[in-house]
Amino acid sequence: MTVDIRLTVNGAPVHAAVDAAVLLVDLLREHLGLTGTHVGCETGHCGACTVELDGRAVKACTVLAVQAEGASVTTIEGLGDPDALDPVQAAFREHHGLQCGFCTPGMVMAARELLRRHPAPSDEDIRRGLDGNLCRCTGYHNIVAAVRAAAADLGRDGQGP
Ligand code: FES
Ligand code: FES
Repeated sequence: MTVDIRLTVNGAPVHAAVDAAVLLVDLLREHLGLTGTHVGCETGHCGACTVELDGRAVKACTVLAVQAEGASVTTIEGLGDPDALDPVQAAFREHHGLQCGFCTPGMVMAARELLRRHPAPSDEDIRRGLDGNLCRCTGYHNIVAAVRAAAADLGRDGQGP
C-alpha cells in the first residue's frame, strides 16, 4: 500500500508517496538522497542510522517512514557545513574521533542527544550514552574525548546541541 506522507527534513518540507513498509532510513537515503545517514545492521544494534526525529535521537532503521508523518527530521546533512561545522562535528574533527567515518554521522547525532540530557557529562555518562552506537575503528577513546570537548565548548558558549 502506498501512503502519502508530509514531513520536514533538515528544515525543508518533504512530500513523498512511499510504501507503508518503507523504513525512515530508506526514505532518507533512497528517496531523498541523504546518504550521510548510514545503514550498518538494519536491526537497531549499530546506531549508524541515527537521526533526530522531533529533536530526539532515533535509529532510523527502527522507524517506518509513515511514522514520521508531520514530524521534523534532522540528518547529518542538516547540521553544519564544511565551513561552519556543528560544535559536535568540530570536536570529532579536532579530537580525531573518527577513522573510516562510517559510524560518525550516527555517533554525532547520538552525542547531541547525550549532551542535551547531560550538558556536563562524565566519561562514564558519555560511554553509557553512546553504548547504542558501534565503532569498529577507534576503540572509542577519541570519541569520548571529542564528546567531552564538545560539552566544554557548548558549556562555554551557553548553547545546547
Ligand atoms: S542500521 Fe540502524 S541501528 Fe544499525
Ligand atoms: S570510525 Fe570506522 S566505524 Fe567508527
